[in-house]
Amino acid sequence: MNKTLRTAAAAAGFAFAVSAVPAAATTDCSPGKPGSELTLEEGKKVYDCIKDALYAGYMKGDKKWIPAEYVRDYRDWTPVSTGPANPGWHGERFLLTFVNDVGAEEYLKYLEERGPMPAGTVIAKESFSVKDEGKVKKGPLFFMVKVEAGSAPETADWNYMLVSPGGKPMKINAQKACSACHEDNFGARDGLGYPIEEVRVGQ
Ligand code: HEC
Repeated sequence: MNKTLRTAAAAAGFAFAVSAVPAAATTDCSPGKPGSELTLEEGKKVYDCIKDALYAGYMKGDKKWIPAEYVRDYRDWTPVSTGPANPGWHGERFLLTFVNDVGAEEYLKYLEERGPMPAGTVIAKESFSVKDEGKVKKGPLFFMVKVEAGSAPETADWNYMLVSPGGKPMKINAQKACSACHEDNFGARDGLGYPIEEVRVGQ
């Protein structure tokens, strides 16, 4: 092969690699096996691949009744799990939770019994799911906001909110769709579900 040919072949190979790699890395982070079979390590890899696209999706469009800064800033809050995990409750979803400055220290105690979390606590939980055929799918961004004592008695003073993977605030019946499960199961710890023990920070 003469030099010009070699260079052309190398350039073609390079172009192929460049066009093939981003397609694999950005449009499809699917691990190719069911979410229930993924190790924490493999779940983390999927998250690292999808996390920029996940955030970009949540940021799209008007947040209406949800304070826009919650969505903008939650990634700067304190992560209260060491990586995404699938607890089997929020569907087949892998979850990653962040708590703002008001509540982070209290949350990180993971107390089994507690009084109310401080008013002004905001908790964000991002999610993605891995289906049985091994395909990854973006999930909603969940929020719990602790309001002043007595101001939302039917939901134990928590406001529950939800942003779709495409950035739309979703209308929910917070009592039925969210609070009933949180209070029935975790009432003794102010409704907090906590991440599974394997991914709790400092445990
Ligand atoms: C069937 C029960 C169930 C329902 C319904 C439910 N959750 Fe959860 N939620 C959980 C469990 C269990 C956890 C902890 C799991 C984890 O983080 O790995 C959790 C965690 C959370 C967290 C992180 C704070 C915490 O509890 O540790 C937020 C925020 C949240 N849920 C919001 C919502 C919202 C908003 C809705 C309604 C749209 C909702 N949840 C509906 C069971 C439920």
